[in-house]
Amino acid sequence: RTIPKYVTRLAALPAMPMWSSYGGVDYYVIGVRQFSQQVLPPTLPKTVVWGYGSPRNPATFHSPAFTIEARVGRPVQVMWANQLVDASGRFLPHLFAVDPTLHWANPPGGLRGRDSRPTFASTPGPYSGPVPVVTHVHGAHATEESDGYPEAWYLPPAWDIPVGYARVGSSHDRHRAMAADRFGAEWSPGAAVYRYANDQSAGTLWFHDHTLGLSRVNVHAGLAGFYLLRGGARDLPPGVLPGPAPAADDRPGTRYHELSLVVQDRSFNRDGSIFFPDSRSFAGDVPPTGPFIPASDVPPIWNPDTFGNTMVVNGRTWPVLSVEPRRYRFRLLNACNARTLLLKVVANPLAPRPAPAALSCWQIGADGGFLPRPVQTDQLLCAPAERVDVIVDFTSLPAGTELFLINEGPDVAFTGGSPGNGLTPADPATTGQVMKFVVTRQSTRDTSVPPAQLFLPPLPPLGPSRRTWRISLTARQSTAKPAVAVSYLLGTVAADGTAKPLTWADDVTERPALRTTETWELANFTGETHPIHLHQVQFRVTDRRPLTGGGPGRAPEAGETGVKDTVIAYPNEITRIDAQFDIPGRYVMHCHNLDHEDGEMMRPIQPGG
Ligand code: C2O
Ligand code: CU
Repeated sequence: RTIPKYVTRLAALPAMPMWSSYGGVDYYVIGVRQFSQQVLPPTLPKTVVWGYGSPRNPATFHSPAFTIEARVGRPVQVMWANQLVDASGRFLPHLFAVDPTLHWANPPGGLRGRDSRPTFASTPGPYSGPVPVVTHVHGAHATEESDGYPEAWYLPPAWDIPVGYARVGSSHDRHRAMAADRFGAEWSPGAAVYRYANDQSAGTLWFHDHTLGLSRVNVHAGLAGFYLLRGGARDLPPGVLPGPAPAADDRPGTRYHELSLVVQDRSFNRDGSIFFPDSRSFAGDVPPTGPFIPASDVPPIWNPDTFGNTMVVNGRTWPVLSVEPRRYRFRLLNACNARTLLLKVVANPLAPRPAPAALSCWQIGADGGFLPRPVQTDQLLCAPAERVDVIVDFTSLPAGTELFLINEGPDVAFTGGSPGNGLTPADPATTGQVMKFVVTRQSTRDTSVPPAQLFLPPLPPLGPSRRTWRISLTARQSTAKPAVAVSYLLGTVAADGTAKPLTWADDVTERPALRTTETWELANFTGETHPIHLHQVQFRVTDRRPLTGGGPGRAPEAGETGVKDTVIAYPNEITRIDAQFDIPGRYVMHCHNLDHEDGEMMRPIQPGG
């Protein structure tokens, strides 16, 4: 049964309603719940998803979430509540098979020593107890207790674990206790109170689940949303760029010329539910190099790269958007588990690849803020977790014109390259299409500045680098025949240039100094690309050098010349970035391919020693 395309309107994501606002701080209470949503066209069944929303108003629960609209210099405080319970208060099990053989949250059974509580962790097969969650605002300059440390997860209230619970790791305790102390609140079971200072540049941040060994399945179930930061010295005055963006309390019929688009690939079962693999298969696996581990250690459920066969934008499959013949600002987020997107606006979505572009886009920003200058481009490369801030100009197109946002990225792990040059683009009939634009009659005057005439705020200087952290990206391979990539690891690079892979449990090896620019070299020894993300900082991409043999470096792509928090590390290259940390504490660095992240391509880092 095929899913008809372009029958559902794009869902504009409204602003998340605040709980209250006083003393210069915006307060939110945001729950995580399970609910049904019409993700497929209305002739097909609804889909059970997880999403965030304001508990005061069930209609605000959506997947992906409504957008947190924050202002530079104005703190936001969020109580993130785990409400994954049914109507009678019993915990809801995970929508997908949880692999308990990974290094994961692993909630202890027999909680609080009460016999009436079930034991969760000791049963063989997929975990079936209450689901831990913890939220990270990706790209935020947050202190450690508010950063959503992967081990600072919590369960729904009745099952949550008190701080001090003996079987829980000290890191879990420390981060939860710190969050409680800092806000003077009692530690509240089933929730975490996090504060975001918003003392950084205006930019396109986002939030998502970050639970150890569960991020891939928690995000896949729907736990993601935008966190837009506006204002301050590194934003443009209102009216310069196309707007407005959706607010929390718009009248119906309000026209938006700034829209945030979450692009995700999913697969659906006939009953409308999301399909996620519950056993190990090897689709999309790239032959690895690196250390070998015994075949018996192959995780039985986890897969190295999860690809869907259907494109979903803002929680609807292949939506259509009516656009006026004017300029639009789109903030694109790749929230796929593993898929790298190569996006283009074309007239014929089924045209042979590479398809001719019908409109070029003007990229004005990336992850954490604006580029130094607008970049005109026919295609936008966007790896998992990357954001692209772009102006698309539909001016002077006749009413009725149809254009398509297509994807020429591959249906397998991205290894670099371009269509027609070693890269096989996604199936033009399915994942090679994303959404449709239909031009309507003009109805509002466009007073935004044409992108070619835009002056973007200058980038603050970072200063010379004082030292270099050398990070390796490697694949663990099983001893089974044929050998399979078991998982990917981050680690260090020894003085002789060889990789020293490390796991999540290994001691911290990177302790960047505070308020000092330092270089991070990401040496990719694997056969595929990895989008590498550092918490706390917005960094600069400096260049990419050959992994072996020396030779000249490549300058960053034009779309990477702004402030970034996630960067694509290509195979056989050393991707170099400069970063400056200024908050001490325990943070993480990881691959943002969510499957890789959970397969422990993630390391703790400790800025400030
Ligand atoms: Cu988008 Cu560590 O996460
Ligand atoms: Cu990776």
